This record gives sequence, structure tokens and C-alpha cells, in this order.
Amino acid sequence: MLTLGFESSCDDTSVALVADGTRVVANLISSQIEIHRRFGGVVPEVASRKHLEAVTPMLGEVLAIARDAGDPIGRVAATTGPGLLGALLVGMSAAKAAALALRIPFVPVNHLEAHLSAAFLGAGRAPTFPFVGLVVSGGHALLTLSHSHRQIEIISQTHDDAPGELFDKIARVLELGYPGGPVIQKTATAGNPKRYALPRPMADRPEAMSFSGLKTAVLNLMRTEGDRLVVADLCASLQEAVCDTLAQKVTAALGRHRPPLLVLAGGVAANQPLRERLAQVAAAHGCEFLVPPLVLCTDNAAMIAANGHWVADSHRDLDGLTVNASANWAIGAPIPT
Ligand code: KG4
Ligand code: ZN
Repeated sequence: MLTLGFESSCDDTSVALVADGTRVVANLISSQIEIHRRFGGVVPEVASRKHLEAVTPMLGEVLAIARDAGDPIGRVAATTGPGLLGALLVGMSAAKAAALALRIPFVPVNHLEAHLSAAFLGAGRAPTFPFVGLVVSGGHALLTLSHSHRQIEIISQTHDDAPGELFDKIARVLELGYPGGPVIQKTATAGNPKRYALPRPMADRPEAMSFSGLKTAVLNLMRTEGDRLVVADLCASLQEAVCDTLAQKVTAALGRHRPPLLVLAGGVAANQPLRERLAQVAAAHGCEFLVPPLVLCTDNAAMIAANGHWVADSHRDLDGLTVNASANWAIGAPIPT
């Protein structure tokens, strides 16, 4: 059975089809990066308008793919939160309209839970539990322990900035462009990660995460170094500080919870050195490691459709059409009404 998915929580409009929760049939993504690039970040009102322009033609295209595939669409899933409220409403309204027209259920999906589902979708298999998850993106840094699809304990989360936000801010100050993560990774390949000594925030507190101190340290370093600053070395040093910090937190969580599986997900999971580092951490704990392929790390509707497939059963008594969008829907929290 096919699940139709919609994602519009930030600056990517995406409509997708996933078969049986494990196979991507279509995953159309329309990025607004070029539009927001000139502002150095996402402008919420602009994002909503661009979602509105993109979503209907994309739905038409995906419905044509579904017709060719010959399988019936059994349900529609959309990101209901967290995210930018106006942006969420666009994808959700399109999804509800499609559910009504096709006379099939609408399933609300939590964006962060869907990021974790992307790792299983990438591997073409159904989720297994328990697992420790690290979701790192432009808005979030969350370390979780998943007991089932919706029973998710938060082990720790950032008190302030998210790692993606940190990369985006530093790249903007260095005038490297937007989004910052990919360009910092690229610039870092030519840099010396030992050149600048940057802090590993909250190193003595395994359950706490914070990235704003690292941001301040980088900004101070830029001021004191002035023209002497070697940008590639700074990018490499920053990337290593983020990888070290996240590896410390994951090491503590694996030691404490001893899960059979570690999942890395979210936009920052596209970072190659981070993928390699956490693969090593997992191996050292005799733990399996799953991370989505790059296209399923950043925002996409395939992960929404996959998660919708798996959570649908727990929502059997729910009339999805009554669910509202929620900018702050926490991972594992009850569905917003
Ligand atoms: O998950 P995502 O697409 O959107 C949110 O839900 O936030 O994540 C976007 C974030 C951006 O901050 C971007 O700079 C970061 O993911 N990112 C990366 C890489 N690719 C994207 N960060 C580090 N290395 C990358 N290769
Ligand atoms: Zn995301």
C-alpha cells in the first residue's frame, strides 16, 4: 500500500510516495534555498507563499506517478509540527484536501520522529526498537531513546542553538553562503582542525547540550585573529568541535542505555565527518549504526510518508482532519489538537 506524504515545515516543499513504509516510489523536493540565500536565512512569510506555489503542481505530478505504479494510496501523511506555523499549514491543508478527495485517512506526523524514520527507510526495512537516536538539524539537537514508534524518551536536548544553526550563523559571518553546513564541510577539507582551540561545550555534563558558547568562542576568535584568520582552519576546527561534542554525548548515552542500535538523522547528519565519527562510536559499543542516505537527511516528504505508515495504527481512533498544526510539537508528545 502507498502512503502519500507532504513536508513543508521550513524551506523545502516536498511531496512523496512510499510503499509499505520501506520503499521510496517518488520523492519530489522543491528547495527555496536560492530565494532565502539573499536574506542569509529563512524568511517565514516568504516560505509560506513559496510552499503554496509549489505544492499543487507537485501533488499532480506525484498522483500521476501513483497511477502508473498501479498500487492504491491508502493514507495521506503530513508534517504537523514542529516548524514554521504558516509553512506547516500549507502542506497540511493540501494533505487534508487530498485525503478528503481520495476518501482515505489523514495521518499527522511529527517532523523529528520522521527524521529518525528516514534512517530505516534508507535501509529499506521496518523500524526496530529500542534505539538511541541523535537528531541534529537547523532547529534541533536531540538525543532520544525510542521504545516504539511514538514512545520516545528525550535523553538530552540543546539549551540554546542547534548545530545546523551554528554552522549557518558562522558561515554567514564568514560570508561563505547559505546553508552553512555543506559549505563549512567543503571548506574544512582544506583546513587543519587542530589550528584553533575551541571549547567542547558541557563536556563535564553528559546529559546536557549547548552550542551557543561555541558560537561565541568562534566569533571572539574571528575578532582577535582579524586578517590573520585562516578560514579553512577555522571551519575544520569548528566542525571537529561539533563532532567531538556530539560524539561525547552519544558515547555517554550508549554506555548508559546499551541499545542494540544507534540512529543518526536530520540535516546535519549529512555531514561526512560526523557520520564517520558516530559509526566509530557505535562500533566501539558493539552497536549497529544507521544513518539515512544524504537525500533523506535533509527535509523531505519520503520520511514523512514512511513515518505516517508506521504511526497510522496508533492513531486508528483519531479523526486526522481535526488535528491542527503546532509550531512546537515536541518529539513523542501527544498529537496537537
Ligand atoms: O533537517 P534540515 O533539512 O532542516 C531542519 O529541520 O532544520 O536541516 C538543515 C540544516 C541546516 O542548518 C544545514 O546547514 C545543515 O542542516 N546541513 C549540514 C550539512 N548539510 C545540511 N550541516 C553540516 N554538514 C552538512 N553536510
Ligand atoms: Zn528537518
